[in-house]
Amino acid sequence: GKVRAPTHIISTISDDRGDEPCYAGVPMSTIIERGFSVGDVISLLWFKRSLPRYCTQFIEICIMLCADHGPCVSGAHNTIVTARAGKDLVSSLVSGLLTIGPRFGGAIDDAARYFKDAHDRGLTPYEFVEGMKKQGIRVPGIGHRIKSRDNRDKRVQLLQQYAHNHFPSVKYMDYAVQVENYTLSKANNLVLNVDGAIGSLFLDLLSGSGMFTKQEIDEIVEIGYLNGLFVLARSIGLIGHTFDQKRLKQPLYRHPWEDVLYTK
Ligand code: ACO
Ligand code: LMR
Repeated sequence: GKVRAPTHIISTISDDRGDEPCYAGVPMSTIIERGFSVGDVISLLWFKRSLPRYCTQFIEICIMLCADHGPCVSGAHNTIVTARAGKDLVSSLVSGLLTIGPRFGGAIDDAARYFKDAHDRGLTPYEFVEGMKKQGIRVPGIGHRIKSRDNRDKRVQLLQQYAHNHFPSVKYMDYAVQVENYTLSKANNLVLNVDGAIGSLFLDLLSGSGMFTKQEIDEIVEIGYLNGLFVLARSIGLIGHTFDQKRLKQPLYRHPWEDVLYTK
C-alpha cells in the first residue's frame, strides 16, 4: 500500500491545491456564482458548514454594528496615537486590536460562558450576580462607560429585535435580559452591553439552529470563537481611523500635562 509521510500540520478548513481554492469543501466559483456573503464565508471558515440565511445575516449584523464606536474608545485611541507616531497600517491596526479584552470588546466569550452556565444550571439572576460578586468577578457583558438605563445602546436593541423576528428561540437572551433587570436595580449603567447581547444571542443561534451538536456548542464556547466577531468587526473601524489620521496629516500625539495628575 501507499506509505504516507507524517505531516507537521493538519488543516481542515480550506484547500488551495486544486484549480481553485475551496473553503470547507466549497469551491470559490460556487461562492461567487451563488452570491455567498461575508457571513457565509465566516460560516465556512470558522464553523466548517453552511449556516441558514438568518444566521449568516446575524453574523453580518454583528460585524456592521461593531465596526466602529468613535475615536474615544480604547482601540481607536491606540490606533490614532500609533498612526500619529508615523507607524504603518498594520502597526496602527494591531496597536488598537491589542486593547480588545475582558473590559473592551473581548467580553463576548466570557459572557457566553457565564450566561450559559448560569442559565443551564437554573440559577436565578440574583443567585448568578451575587455569586459572581462573591467571587469578585464583574459579570461579563454587563456594564458600560456611557450607556445606561436612560441612554440605551441602540446596537443591543437592534440585535434583540433581529433575533426576536428571526430566531426560533431566544432563551439565553431572555436570561441575559433578566440578569440586566437585576443589575439595573443596583446601578444605572449596569446595562446589557453589546458584548453581552452578542454572547447570549450567539448561544441562541448555536442551540436553536439545529446545526450544531451539544458537544460542538460546548467546544465553540470553550475555545472562544465569539470575540473573533468583535476583532474582525472593529478591524474595519481601526483601519478607517488609520487612514483618517494619515489623510489629515496629524502630527505626533503628546498627551497634555494638564490632563495628568502628577503626584507622589
Ligand atoms: N458586573 C458587576 N458589577 C459591575 C460591573 C459588572 N459587569 N461593571 C461595573 N460594576 C460595578 C462594580 O461594583 C464596580 O466597582 P468595582 O470597580 O469595585 O468592581 C462599579 O460598578 C463601578 O463601575 P463603573 O466605574 O461604573 O464601571 P466602569 O465604567 O469602570 O466599567 C466596564 C465599564 C469596564 C464595561 C464594566 O462595566 C465591566 O467591566 N463590564 C464587564 C466587561 C464587559 O462586558 N466589557 C464589555 C463592554 S462593551 C464593549 O466594550 C464593546
Ligand atoms: C465600543 O463598541 O467600543 C464600546 O461599546 C465601548 C465604548 O466605551 O463605547
